[in-house]
Amino acid sequence: MAMPAGKSPILLICDDEPARHELAVKLGFLGESVITADAGNWRRGVANAHAVEAVLLGKYDTGEMRRLTGELESNLPLAAIVLLQAGEIPDFAGDGLRARMIAEPDATAHFRDLLDVLHKARLCHEYLAGAADEDISRGLAAVQGLIGVSPAIQRIREVVGRLADTELNVLITGDSGTGKEVVARNLHRISGREGKPFVPVNCGAIPGELLESELFGHERGAFTGAVATTVGRFERAHGGTLFLDEIGDMPLNMQVKLLRVLEEGSFEKVGGTRSIKADVRILTATHKNIEDMIALGQFREDLYYRINVFPIEMPPLRDRVEDIPLLLNELMRNIETGGKGSVRFNSAAVSALCSYAWPGNVRELANLVERMAILHPHGIVGVEQLPGKIRASAGQRDIAPEPQEIPQESPMPATSPDMPPVHGMDLKQYLANLEKDFIERALKDSGGVVKQAAERLQLRRTTLVEKMRRHGLKR
Ligand SMILES: Nc1ncnc2c1ncn2[C@@H]1O[C@H](COP(=O)(O)OP(=O)(O)OP(=O)(O)O)[C@@H](O)[C@H]1O
Ligand SMILES: [Mg+2]
Repeated sequence: MAMPAGKSPILLICDDEPARHELAVKLGFLGESVITADAGNWRRGVANAHAVEAVLLGKYDTGEMRRLTGELESNLPLAAIVLLQAGEIPDFAGDGLRARMIAEPDATAHFRDLLDVLHKARLCHEYLAGAADEDISRGLAAVQGLIGVSPAIQRIREVVGRLADTELNVLITGDSGTGKEVVARNLHRISGREGKPFVPVNCGAIPGELLESELFGHERGAFTGAVATTVGRFERAHGGTLFLDEIGDMPLNMQVKLLRVLEEGSFEKVGGTRSIKADVRILTATHKNIEDMIALGQFREDLYYRINVFPIEMPPLRDRVEDIPLLLNELMRNIETGGKGSVRFNSAAVSALCSYAWPGNVRELANLVERMAILHPHGIVGVEQLPGKIRASAGQRDIAPEPQEIPQESPMPATSPDMPPVHGMDLKQYLANLEKDFIERALKDSGGVVKQAAERLQLRRTTLVEKMRRHGLKR
């Protein structure tokens, strides 16, 4: 079976040859690279035991289960073990083995279930490979919605956890969509102010002349149009947290007023004289570089020191691609639990997502997942269904995507990650394209060396040369 370059393989152990073949073809269709074996000789095909992401255990002699899983446990230390025959994790499995076993006897009948179990296995493998010494589930429970296994995100979860019960003013920096608000909400949630309001204000979205009254409220008659006394966001946040988002967009005259509130702990409404106590914790965020702004005279240095008692910098998504599969999982789940349909990505598509630069960070990823769920409801998204810019970054050819609904219970497909349109398909042309794709992929994976590509495809060199000529492919 063709193996996409650089992909971690899946080991499929099954003593029933036809069932093994069928499952291997399905896995190939989903873009997985597969090593097939039977229970007696599985070691032979495995070149790099640490690379194996998952073992799928199909049919084998159950009397041998203890021996077989024991062998897998010690020889494939980083692989998830998926039990396709057993409905339960066997009693003899100790904690170590239990943590990496997934029992899903029905996972092979439908593509969606197979994708789900592969996703689970991949997360389990990532955990075993990357974060074995960190209790991710504990971290996740403490800090809600800040998903990620990258060292950067783990560090942020740790810092947020340490800031629990403090009143420090925190400045959260980072590009758009990196999760600044997620962090702010967590800081509020785990502070002693939980249960009191969390009030966000987007300083960039409110016109400068209205910001003061928005923050502090105004007295009736304070200015033309002030027909009633209003309560500002400071007052609304009383006892809780005020989240000043895009603080870098706050005009200088408002910066002076904010600084005064922070220094004196009180404020007056616009047009008012009565001093109101401000019992508010201030969290701020910006995607701008405040230090540059200070140098340019656009931001007050004294305010900066007040709000930046503790800085947290959110890393861009492109610097933590290892978080993408986990984020995808979370975003797909959100769509499902929100009743917005569902969608899955095959592993080639996930690889492509990992090679894209994500200028809009997690928000852009979330938007993509939502868009794919609309375009391909209950479908499987392959590389070709992804937007051109993502395909381009993955080094794919620019083929106009044909949104196609992929039937959930499709018959045995060809071993391609993409599906033909259901109606009016030209089978001959489709198969020819498929052949061309595989040849191109094999050539690419072999660095253009025809002899190696022929070996990968199990073709004679002359046959491959002839096929390349027919498809107009150059070496
Ligand atoms: N680590 C994460 N885990 C899960 N979801 C995340 C994560 N980071 C961001 N998100 C999601 O991505 C979206 C953008 O996050 P958020 O609004 O916190 O970003 P931001 O940095 O405040 O962006 P902006 O600068 O555009 O305001 C939200 O829907 C949020 O739930
Ligand atoms: Mg934000």
